Amino acid sequence: MIFARESDILGNEFEAMKDEKAARLADVLGGAERVVVLTGAGISAESGVPTFRGPEGLWRQYRAETLATPEAFERDPALVWQWYDWRRGLISRVEPNAGHRVLAEWENMFQSFAVITQNVDGLHRKAGSRNVLELHGDIWMTRCTREKTVRQNLESPLQKIPPVCPDCGALLRPHIVWFGESLDPELLDRAFRLCGTSQVMLVVGTSSVVQPAATLPFAAAEAGAVIIEINPERTPLTPHADLFMQGKAGEILPLLDRALKAKGPGEGGGPRREKPSEKG
Ligand code: OAD
Repeated sequence: MIFARESDILGNEFEAMKDEKAARLADVLGGAERVVVLTGAGISAESGVPTFRGPEGLWRQYRAETLATPEAFERDPALVWQWYDWRRGLISRVEPNAGHRVLAEWENMFQSFAVITQNVDGLHRKAGSRNVLELHGDIWMTRCTREKTVRQNLESPLQKIPPVCPDCGALLRPHIVWFGESLDPELLDRAFRLCGTSQVMLVVGTSSVVQPAATLPFAAAEAGAVIIEINPERTPLTPHADLFMQGKAGEILPLLDRALKAKGPGEGGGPRREKPSEKG
């Protein structure tokens, strides 16, 4: 099914409506003490990091099975590392954008604020966020295939492909969760606990199709959180979100930030539970 964009239907009224939605959202956020954010590749798109599933997405140009599975690594570790070396090079040249920066600033504005990200680019931390759960790992970390030691490795480009462990000489692999692998159970447990105790959850720049991350907003909603989605496109989450802000993270998050600051300090009593009248 093809959905029309709100901007196409509403034309000039769209901007005014965005402001109105931002003000409503600032009301919800302003009263909240515990906020959690789930981010995906879309939040880094405006920094110049390609997403996975869009028209220019990485999985349109490369086959995930040959690059991001344990079998692919076993078959051809050099090929897998060449791809990661290219991505590391690309990421090393980009900067966090306004969306990352707003989230970093918001960490100081709420009693509890965490970013759960599916991204491996490290841009949330680079923007200043400290409470970040990197569900899919970190492209700047390597793991020894023999001893499982995890180390930071910032070399870009890599001198030797595939790189080997400085201690034991075994192959190093990217410390990233590949297709067919499980997420760190402790980290996932923390993510679910955060979602289960948050009053507001923002879901920014993810296609909401990759599990288990895609389940997190449902867990938060089940526990009573207000779910706000920010994305230029509708996703499988959109019909379930309490508020859908259609647009780019680098534009919508600063808009919300301005609305939140214009509103002044919140009452701290938690967000209003009456839900916005329209869904999606
Ligand atoms: P996707 O590439 O699947 O989705 C990116 C989402 O970002 C889409 O819904 C876009 O509409 C949206 N988007 C694009 N530009 C945006 C912008 N400027 N602002 C906000 N949103 C924007 O990426 P993820 O959902 O993150 O896993 O993908 C999840 C996982 O699938 C990734 O972590 C990766 C991939 O395979 C691993 O590598 C393990």
